[in-house]
Amino acid sequence: MHKNELETLSPLYTAGFFVTENFKNKHQQRIILWNANQFKRLFGHNAAIYEIGEKSLLSFVKQRQTSIAYSKAKKIIVLNLKGGVGKSTFSASLASKLLSQGHTVELIDFDKQQSTNRWAESIEVLPNQSYNPSLRSLSNIAVTLKVNTETDYVVIDSPANFSESDLVRYLRYVDYIVIPMQPSPIDLHASLPFINNLIEKHIFKSRKIKIGFVINRCVHQDVRLDRVTRLLRFFRQFKTLGIMSESEVYQQPFMDKKLVDAKNIDPLLWDSVIKWLE
Ligand SMILES: Nc1ncnc2c1ncn2[C@@H]1O[C@H](COP(=O)(O)OP(=O)(O)O)[C@@H](O)[C@H]1O
Ligand SMILES: [Mg+2]
Repeated sequence: MHKNELETLSPLYTAGFFVTENFKNKHQQRIILWNANQFKRLFGHNAAIYEIGEKSLLSFVKQRQTSIAYSKAKKIIVLNLKGGVGKSTFSASLASKLLSQGHTVELIDFDKQQSTNRWAESIEVLPNQSYNPSLRSLSNIAVTLKVNTETDYVVIDSPANFSESDLVRYLRYVDYIVIPMQPSPIDLHASLPFINNLIEKHIFKSRKIKIGFVINRCVHQDVRLDRVTRLLRFFRQFKTLGIMSESEVYQQPFMDKKLVDAKNIDPLLWDSVIKWLE
């Protein structure tokens, strides 16, 4: 039995059964999914069946794919030259938020550490892949980096310390850049050259890529905020999307491998992010 033999999938079935190759009848070998009751009615209780869960079922389905450059999805990369600023945390939270709003979302992890890819692996509703763009030329990425045709949003997590040429690779495909940073003037000043460099790039201007800042790991009444928001106003054409609190709500999902439940945390931030992406 081969994955590509799958012919039909009713979206009504979140878990399904498929017939083994033992069936003589050709028609039955075309793997059609039934729910349990239909299956038993058709083949009796002794028929050999495999039960497959939602994730494996989804991966059996031949999704039509297209290269990221031609996908109609909105592509958001989470970027900062510094490590530990919350890129992976924000990527996972954003993917969770978009899913909770009923969108189809895909996650791509450009970081070799694969924090978000590993997190997403056990989340059934979130197709994910790890991909190293540094190893590919731009034209190769257009061929090899594929996403599902039906995807609404592609969230891309990225590594710290990327190179100039990596940056150009990113800018070729993305529509939005989110830059998470901690509310420290030192962190912000460290990021300025990279942001300046980014906005000077021709491709950045010609593709009208949007940039948003997220100030991460803020504690209650953080005194550093004022200074940082004032500094960020310097980049008037970009949006400060909001403030992400220091919270277990963002950490625990990486241990449990569950979606981030951002319903009751930072509503201002998440509302503004969603509006910005519309
Ligand atoms: N808002 C937050 N609240 C609590 N912990 C956070 C928050 N943002 C990031 N962290 C923690 O900080 C560390 C670095 O975050 P991470 O998302 O891995 O950064 P990056 O991907 O930029 O290297 C992780 O241990 C993560 O759990
Ligand atoms: Mg990371």
